[in-house]
Parts: sequence; C-alpha cells; structure tokens
Amino acid sequence: MIKKGIFGTINDKEVEFFLLKNKSSIEAKIISYGAALVSLKTPDKNGKLADIVLGYDGLEGYLNDTCYHGCTVGRVANRISNAKFMLDGKEYKLTANNGSNHLHGGNIGFNRVLWEARPFEEKDCCGVIFKYQSSDGQEGYPGNLDITVTYTLTNDNELKIDYNAVTDKKTVINLTNHSYFNLAGHDSGDIYSHQIQINSESITETDADLTPTGKIIPVKNTPYDFTKLKPMGRDINKLDMGYDINYILKKSSPMELSFAAKVCESQSGRVMEILTSEPAIQFYTGNFLNGSAGKNGASYKKHNAFCLETQHYPDSPNHPEFPSVVLNPGDVYRHLTVHKFSVK
Ligand code: GLA
Repeated sequence: MIKKGIFGTINDKEVEFFLLKNKSSIEAKIISYGAALVSLKTPDKNGKLADIVLGYDGLEGYLNDTCYHGCTVGRVANRISNAKFMLDGKEYKLTANNGSNHLHGGNIGFNRVLWEARPFEEKDCCGVIFKYQSSDGQEGYPGNLDITVTYTLTNDNELKIDYNAVTDKKTVINLTNHSYFNLAGHDSGDIYSHQIQINSESITETDADLTPTGKIIPVKNTPYDFTKLKPMGRDINKLDMGYDINYILKKSSPMELSFAAKVCESQSGRVMEILTSEPAIQFYTGNFLNGSAGKNGASYKKHNAFCLETQHYPDSPNHPEFPSVVLNPGDVYRHLTVHKFSVK
C-alpha cells in the first residue's frame, strides 16, 4: 500500500513523500529530495513498531544536513583522494569538500537534488522509482549520467534498493544509501550491544584522512574481525573514533547477490540482514554524530547508530588494482541491495 503527499517545498518545487506499507505492517517513508529513506518502522518481537533509522522531522533538516541521513549518495560515494582522478590520460578535478579530498559526490551530491518520482504497486510489493540526470561536468565528473533508484518494500519483509545508470561519456560511478540504523529505535542511544556479522575477511587499510593506502589487510586478530556475530561495542574503544572502514565481501562470482552482513539487537529482537551485488560494504558507527537534533526531539550522539553502505571500494578511481567503477557509454551500471527484517 502506498500513501503519497507533500513533504515540503524547495524553490517553489514540491518535495514528495511516499509511505510504503506491507502485510506485516512494516512502513518505509521515502522523499524525493535526495531519494532519501526518512523513516523505517518495523515490529519488535512483541509486534511493537519503532522507527529504526535516524533523520529529521521535516525538509529543513534534510536541506541543512551534514551527516547524509538516509540519502542516496553519488556520483561516487566515499572519498576520492585529493579530489582528482585520471581517466584515459585526462585528469578530472572534483570538488574538494572533505579537507583536500572529495566525499560522497561533492557539495551538490545526489543527496542534495530533487529526484523525479513514480510510485508503483504490484501483488506482493510496492515501491517508488526515482530518476535524476546528473549533467556533464557536475562536481567535476565527465558525462551526462541518467540514474534510476528504485525502492521496493515486499511482503517478505525486504526493503530493496535497486540502482541503474547509463552515461553518454566514459565516467566513474559508485552509488550507495547512507541510512543510519539503530535497531532498538532511532532515539535509543549507543549501538554497543548490537551484534554484527560481516561476510568479510579483509579490509582496505586507510590513512589518517580515511582514504585507502592501497593495502588490503586481514581482519583476523584485529578489532575489525566480525566474521562471527560480535557486539559492535566489544572492541570499539581499541579504535581512535570507532568503525569507519571498507570490508571486502566474500563472493563466489562478481555481481552475485550474496550475504553481506547481519545485525541483531536482543532487547527488541530485531534482526536485519543485508544482501548485495556490490563487492564491498562500508561499516560506519556514526563517529561524527555530535548531538545534533533529530526526529521527535532526539539528539544523535557519537555511536548512536551504524551505517552499512554497500559499494565499491573507496577511492577506486585512483586504484586500478581495485574492482573498476568506470562506466562506458552503452553499458549499464547495476547495483542491488536487499535489507531483510525479522525478529528472534
Ligand atoms: C561515511 C564515511 C564517514 C563519514 C560519513 C558521513 O560513512 O565513511 O567517514 O564521512 O560518511 O558523516
């Protein structure tokens, strides 16, 4: 079932919201600004609903946001070192919006634009198709890029995000969603007791500015080891800020939709599993949340949520040894991520 309405206006243009509901009363609310997930209500083990993603009550919050709450991130998610890269012998300079680096698509990334939206309803699911054209040269990237992001809520309690894009010039692309989760509820404090398993045995090592050194290191015997379910808080204090790192997913073939991560919260009994076609996942524990105001009077502090951003490795345009993020005209960029919800 879908309900739609107006979330706010920006430059006299309406920002729409879409409220998707399924048979088990899961509710996902998505807006056309940033193609962002602004609320996600799922039942706990007693059937009680709670909103498990962080965000803002109104459009104002999203217009001023610096945390990337719930949004679609692109053209290239994560950091690009020194805000530049080479493609076919030509250097492309991007907006530097994170020190000297480029982060999450620059100043006007896909989180800061209005998407065209079309809702759909089928027998066992409903959803919204968002479309946006990013123009040649925007934030420094080459090529006009036509992007489609489809959110689907199924009666199997899955929230799927499906990304597609085509370009008219050779370019780079790496899209993701930046939802902050707290399975106890968006305003429930720290995530230390959430247990997480990540289907990965190695990470891309980063420098102090969080860009990859190029080295791939095994997680075994490090605080990064989540090969088996482990509380997020167990080793977090062994790290400077918390987790903010790219895990390389175990896959039997590239692009296959396979298990990426599982998170369990025992008080509520909520379980979230993530499957993805992408080769990697950024695990981020909200290290830069600083007490800013969120929905319903909540204040979001450091480690009050986690993000699991399915994507290609950070700074891939500058690391030819990483799986390629190059998109050629005539080819189609595809990425599917599935969030599956249950209780235990
Ligand atoms: C990503 C990055 C973090 C941070 C957040 C946004 O998850 O990995 O370092 O920039 O986005 O605050």
